[in-house]
Amino acid sequence: MNTPTVGILIGGLIYSRIKKNGSDFEPISFYEEACIQYGLSPCFFRLKDITLETNQINALVKGEKGKYEMKVITIPKIIHNRGLFFTNKSKLKIKSLQKTGVIIFNDRNRYGKWGVHEILMKNEELQPHLPETKRASSRNFIEMMEKYKELIIKPNSGSLGGGVVMVEKKDRDLWEVRYRQKREAFTNEWPEIIRKKVLNKNYIIQERIPLTEYQGSPFDLRVSVQKNGLGEWQVTGVVGKVAKMGNYVTNVAKGGTCKTLNELLNEYSDLDFNEVYQSIEDFSIKAVTELNKYFPNLADVGLDIGLTSEGFPMFIECNGRDLRYSFKIAQMPEVWKATYTTPISYARYLFDSKIDEE
Ligand SMILES: Nc1ncnc2c1ncn2[C@@H]1O[C@H](COP(=O)(O)OP(=O)(O)OP(=O)(O)O)[C@@H](O)[C@H]1O
Ligand SMILES: [Mg+2]
Repeated sequence: MNTPTVGILIGGLIYSRIKKNGSDFEPISFYEEACIQYGLSPCFFRLKDITLETNQINALVKGEKGKYEMKVITIPKIIHNRGLFFTNKSKLKIKSLQKTGVIIFNDRNRYGKWGVHEILMKNEELQPHLPETKRASSRNFIEMMEKYKELIIKPNSGSLGGGVVMVEKKDRDLWEVRYRQKREAFTNEWPEIIRKKVLNKNYIIQERIPLTEYQGSPFDLRVSVQKNGLGEWQVTGVVGKVAKMGNYVTNVAKGGTCKTLNELLNEYSDLDFNEVYQSIEDFSIKAVTELNKYFPNLADVGLDIGLTSEGFPMFIECNGRDLRYSFKIAQMPEVWKATYTTPISYARYLFDSKIDEE
């Protein structure tokens, strides 16, 4: 039987890990197993390993001795993108590749928070799940302070929890800004940190969702939403991220820990796990279906979703390259593995439905 090759486009860090550890690096063994299951063979490469002129790549392929070796092969027809590209040159290279008929899913994997908010706002059903959001400006900040007791000011584009500021009303004219581990009280005159962020066009101002808490720390959820072997969206897994004691951001990069949703809901006896899970799933599928209209190759995202004390899902952000690692930390090995298997099953679907046999 003909075993087509699926390409996995990765960054430099993972590339060196494969060269060093090969299949001993867990994510790689997950891809390998999934490929056996779906009758594909994987190859790994970076953007710079692609030579458009010759239609070839210099890829890492498993050799006969079970070690990964560099091999020059034809560019695979289906590529799962797991890299992050910032420069225009890289983006152009991806575009040129697509023009030759190669399908690259999750081609884009950074989406500005403001743009995503605007897209989702267009759908009435999704609106109740979106915290009020405005672009940073003095006027918008004043307006938001009049409406909400708690605000979040954060960068429009990725920061792993860095640069996120919380502003909280303490009393009639008394406010407090929290940034990293610092707190600063203010009344009429805005502290430097606020002025800097509010006047920065690359920031957004958001109503702070009153997040559910676990042992006194706020938590939110990472929801892996992926296209599967039927070419349909599915929720592959949900995991909770709990902020470090005293912190207001849940990012693992900022000391957050990961726990299962079941564990986290234990403190909320009036919330039913199945009902909450169902509403997370419903919202997530609707949200990505909407985003997919604007980003046609979208196939694998990690949504950050907060819960209110009523168990109502509130959208925080959409990550284009879900690191998937939270599932490992929360000791959910099966789900962790499934986040790798599902994109491969989708690649199989693409081979069967979009690629003509030669
Ligand atoms: N509107 C909000 N209400 C409550 N908490 C929020 C809100 N926005 C952000 N947070 C908290 O801050 C954390 C980081 O914010 P967010 O996920 O939007 O950006 P990020 O993770 O820094 O960005 P990226 O993933 O692109 O690097 C969230 O996980 C959440 O804990
Ligand atoms: Mg986030």
